[in-house]
Amino acid sequence: MMSSVFIAGTGRYLPSQVVTNKDLAKYVDTSDEWIVQRTGIHERRFSTGEPNWYMGVQAAKQAIENAGVAPEEIDIIISSCITPDYFYPTVACSIQDELGAVNAFCWNLGAACSGFVYALDVARGYLATGSAKTILIVCAENMSKSLDFDDRSTCVLFGDGAGAAVVKKGEGLYGSRMASDGKTGAALLAPALLGVNTPFAYDKDNPKYNKYAPTKGNYMTMDGRAVYRFTAHAIPNTVSGACERAGIAVDELDWLIPHQANLRIIEKASERMHFPMEKIYVNIDRFANTSCASVPICLSEMNDQGKLKRGMKIALAGFGGGLTSGAVVIEW
Ligand code: ACO
Repeated sequence: MMSSVFIAGTGRYLPSQVVTNKDLAKYVDTSDEWIVQRTGIHERRFSTGEPNWYMGVQAAKQAIENAGVAPEEIDIIISSCITPDYFYPTVACSIQDELGAVNAFCWNLGAACSGFVYALDVARGYLATGSAKTILIVCAENMSKSLDFDDRSTCVLFGDGAGAAVVKKGEGLYGSRMASDGKTGAALLAPALLGVNTPFAYDKDNPKYNKYAPTKGNYMTMDGRAVYRFTAHAIPNTVSGACERAGIAVDELDWLIPHQANLRIIEKASERMHFPMEKIYVNIDRFANTSCASVPICLSEMNDQGKLKRGMKIALAGFGGGLTSGAVVIEW
């Protein structure tokens, strides 16, 4: 029997502020019709000020309660976050403090929208070796803070939220397939400390250091078409690769839970994989793209709605900045 992961509990937090496409159109030159047609998004949640750590804590509390574990039992907290309020302490350490998870060691994983899936694969390694028994994964994103509201092609796509899962060692099937393509990294870009002044950085504007074209402020930028081309293959390739490693055919999956980036990307993947939309969970219409939080938010909703039954075979798929992609196949 393969060493797998068992998702013992799930949780989520969505800010209460609902921003519809019509609300956005008051500030941005766009329309409900354009956004719905191109993306499937009807509305999203935007934080009214709740920082990542706060959203993460709410999702984490739900997940540990759902799993029936005490904070002291958590051995590792892995956060995934590309919109942190602080580079350090990481979101994971702030969550540890708020939960009182005093026995955990905590760190942040950087794989953009693929974060949850990458974290699950890393967690499986710790669980398989026996160096951890209970791991909390928390994905929390304040995408609204990295959006340029003058750039209508990106600011309509994203939302804020957090999702969390408690994972333990499982005995069911397991397969994972991760892939990264640094060559297309410029397609999704968010600057950090590059270009910051110090008295010694007299050569900081040297063009040879410009790995990527300069961007406006600290906002994210995206080449939508390049990302679309990448993602059209990312879901089918990683999901079929993960299924192969798990020793099952794609059509044996009970559910596919993909990163919620764009309904058209999800529909394209369904078509390419000959996998029916009825078995693909979608909530992008309500929450837009919450980066790495999207997959655990889906899991938490599905869990609460009783859509996931023990023994079901599910694939979780992520893709995003890096560019990164990945899928994990587990038994629920
Ligand atoms: N409202 C109205 N018009 C718009 C908007 C908007 N919000 N945004 C762009 N347009 C206009 C453009 O200006 C352009 O007009 P023009 O023809 O007069 O120049 C026209 O619409 C077409 O623009 P395109 O960019 O070619 O539109 P496209 O059909 O490619 O759709 C989209 C854009 C939705 C971004 C698409 O490329 C896409 O889905 N890409 C993938 C993006 C994605 O999923 N990113 C996130 C994944 S990774 C992660 O999660 C971080």
